[in-house]
Amino acid sequence: MPPSKTRRGRRSGKDRAQENASETTCVWLDGHCRGTDNRGKSFSTLDSWWKRYTKNAPAKCANAKPSSSTSKEKKPSDDWYSVCERYWERVEATNNGMLGGFPDISSIDLASSYKFLTSLLKVNDATVGTESNRHNKRAIDVGAGIGRITSGLLAKIFDQTDLVEQSQSFVDRARLELKQLINAGKIGSIYCSNLRDFSFEHSYDLIWIQWVLMYLLDIDLISFLKRAKQALESGGMIVIKENHTHSGFYADTEDGSVIRSDDHFKLLFKAAGLNLVAEETQLNNFLDQLFPIKAYALN
Ligand SMILES: C[S@@+](CC[C@H](N)C(=O)[O-])C[C@H]1O[C@@H](n2cnc3c(N)ncnc32)[C@H](O)[C@@H]1O
Repeated sequence: MPPSKTRRGRRSGKDRAQENASETTCVWLDGHCRGTDNRGKSFSTLDSWWKRYTKNAPAKCANAKPSSSTSKEKKPSDDWYSVCERYWERVEATNNGMLGGFPDISSIDLASSYKFLTSLLKVNDATVGTESNRHNKRAIDVGAGIGRITSGLLAKIFDQTDLVEQSQSFVDRARLELKQLINAGKIGSIYCSNLRDFSFEHSYDLIWIQWVLMYLLDIDLISFLKRAKQALESGGMIVIKENHTHSGFYADTEDGSVIRSDDHFKLLFKAAGLNLVAEETQLNNFLDQLFPIKAYALN
């Protein structure tokens, strides 16, 4: 059997059916979550933006893949997720593609993540990967793309890293990029799944989630984080590293993403029952064209 395998880690229809009963997307329903979209329109809630957007969205793009939904009944949010899937289908499977045309930020991004993570785990270059550390056994790279973070960060610290990514072509590319690590037994399971359908098969010392939560609706994001919390080993941690706005949300109809504010993220963490252990602004003022980037450690 090969050391890594591509499988679909899906949740049951029953789990999904419970959530389908009421489709509300935003945790802020009292009108305080204002924002704009890339067409310059303002909205009083993320929910109102999303409802308007999905109402006007085409039922299905001609070349779209079948929806990843397990339910036969089409949900309004399928339109939202198909925008994102179609966008990523067109993106090249390279660091340039993963990083939106800024491949040069990869090394500084990985270096600042390494510093943040090793300070949290209380390990250093001499002790990473040694038996003396109890909390560096298994990690998972969530929204892994082609495995940039697995190879540049997680595999340096953890005995084994799993990956979850929605795009089959990125999963295939990741298997090539990570070939040496796969042969060395450093890669566990590689799952091809949308996060809203993903259920954890293993428990983890670290769940690393970077530049992917912007593609999830609030309700799916909270549900995913709840499942992630359940999948933590005792003493384990979730690290989330995402773009954020200074206030309100910024929604992009091109790739089906929503950039959230720090306050919004913290409400989502609370709703998922997570405790904030540490937070840090990363790549501060590195490039004017980038949104501010923040890392959160939670358990
Ligand atoms: C900006 S790239 C970041 C990739 C990787 N985290 C990195 O930093 O190199 C976003 C990735 O998230 C994946 N993605 C987007 N929405 C997703 C979803 N709902 N479930 C799983 N993966 C998703 C995309 O296919 C893409 O590979």
